[in-house]
Amino acid sequence: MNRSTRIFDLMICVCALAVCAASAIYPPGAVAQPATVQRSNGDDFRAVYASAADVAEGKRVAETACVRCHGAHGISTTPGTPHLAAQRAAYLYLELRAYQSGARSDKNMEGAVRFLSEDALIKVAAYYASVEPARPRVTKAAKGAAESDPVAAGRATAAGCAGCHGENGVTQTPGMPSLVGQDPKYLIAAMKAYKSGQRKHDMMKSLVAALGDADFSNVALYYALQKPARAKTPAGGNAEAGKSAAAACAGCHGELGVSTIPTTPSLAGQDAQYFAAAIKAYKDGSRKDETMKGLVAALDERAVKDLGAFFARQQPRPPKVRKPLTTAQWAARCDRCHGLDGNSTDPRLPALAAQRVDYLEKVLHAYRKGERKSPAMAAMSEVLTEADVEKLAAHYARQTARAVVYVTLPNK
Ligand code: HEC
Ligand code: HEC
Ligand code: HEC
Ligand code: HEC
Repeated sequence: MNRSTRIFDLMICVCALAVCAASAIYPPGAVAQPATVQRSNGDDFRAVYASAADVAEGKRVAETACVRCHGAHGISTTPGTPHLAAQRAAYLYLELRAYQSGARSDKNMEGAVRFLSEDALIKVAAYYASVEPARPRVTKAAKGAAESDPVAAGRATAAGCAGCHGENGVTQTPGMPSLVGQDPKYLIAAMKAYKSGQRKHDMMKSLVAALGDADFSNVALYYALQKPARAKTPAGGNAEAGKSAAAACAGCHGELGVSTIPTTPSLAGQDAQYFAAAIKAYKDGSRKDETMKGLVAALDERAVKDLGAFFARQQPRPPKVRKPLTTAQWAARCDRCHGLDGNSTDPRLPALAAQRVDYLEKVLHAYRKGERKSPAMAAMSEVLTEADVEKLAAHYARQTARAVVYVTLPNK
């Protein structure tokens, strides 16, 4: 069965009291939350009322068949095995069905649910939904994942570069390149080339010697996000004459010097003296690049000056990079489906609050790799970085889990 088209058709109301005819009673501390997910008036739900006796029967199933992995009262102490306590009943039921049909595969779960009847699935789901949720655990991972902002880190590193490359990467010193308007890929490659000695420049080599890969990507991101401006340095030469010669460069460096190839630098607004020095370096081979060497071999000093003047006058543009989302910004997106702080109000969608951090990481990876199939989660998780996964898992593991009350009202 394809899970993406599977019909969500069940809402289990857990009635702990016999008098509860139309609403579900959840443990103390339950709160009603506004629904955050659009759904069609509930007509895709079929209400199944689980009585106290049904819940007790579900508990017996759990104690026989589930407790050794999922722990007493659904609080798991086994790495990789989720808490089930206070998870939404319809979600639990749907997942159990998914394991039975093979739509979701896990060798532990296959054996556990293979012989359970429909009735037992409903009752065990009702039982787990009705118990007190896990308390949030501040794990080591959660503490270690304290928010680190790559742009702020990049800004701190860039403070040591401003003396030569200018405030925010717009140079004011002839001979020093501007660093704004460049794709991070190019800047990172350039810094690595200095560090390894592949691009020869003793001063830059010593300046980046102490920086690691994370520093390179942070500082490159910082410069890429600064507002580009032309170098605040003089440019001699004849820009008009340079314009026609520049046609030969447009294929790689872009129309008007704004490159669209991440590994090829933009030339728009670049300092003219640095520009000339770079061409000279390609010519004499002190900066090694076969493509550029061939292209500039025929340029005389006049032509280089004119080209430099032309490019210096062009308006640099920001490269296509966006500030990465912080964990709080990501979580706000996840919460649209998973409820406030991961406390889902849609019975079909899992609560994430206070879930085990190792389990959250595991399933997010499984969605990313397509091992666990869900169109919604594939789209959400494929854009997450490894660090995002760790931080989001830690974020949800430390949220307080709250049960919800599903209120089913009579039509009239
Ligand atoms: C041998 C250990 C084991 C047993 C026994 C077991 N489970 Fe599980 N269960 C797991 C593991 C491991 C996972 C996570 C698997 C995955 O990532 O898909 C899981 C996942 C689940 C999930 C999915 C939870 C979620 O948040 O998506 C449900 C529901 C569940 N189990 C219910 C049960 C029930 C009900 C029983 C008893 C009838 C049971 N399990 C017995 C190990 C077990
Ligand atoms: C003392 C002056 C000085 C300081 C400080 C300095 N740089 Fe440079 N930087 C230069 C010069 C000069 C060049 C051109 C070297 C060459 O010809 O290859 C350069 C080149 C670069 C380039 C290559 C630009 C391009 O368009 O290819 C990058 C990237 C760079 N520096 C990054 C940094 C970073 C990051 C810092 C701070 C950690 C820094 N620089 C600090 C002087 C400096
Ligand atoms: C076939 C593609 C291609 C063409 C055409 C090309 N370039 Fe380049 N250019 C590159 C690449 C790739 C680099 C980066 C090489 C490196 O890492 O040193 C580069 C680097 C440069 C740099 C160094 C920029 C910096 O920030 O350090 C200058 C200056 C430059 N090119 C000028 C020109 C000029 C002027 C022309 C036209 C006459 C031209 N290029 C044509 C691909 C090209
Ligand atoms: C468009 C709605 C939607 C959004 C947004 C969304 N999810 Fe989900 N999520 C789902 C659905 C639906 C499932 C159940 C899929 C399944 O059956 O495997 C799910 C399942 C999960 C699970 C598995 C829970 C369990 O108990 O096994 C985790 C973890 C999760 N989502 C985390 C996230 C995170 C983190 C984000 C934000 C980056 C996010 N989700 C955003 C809809 C969404």
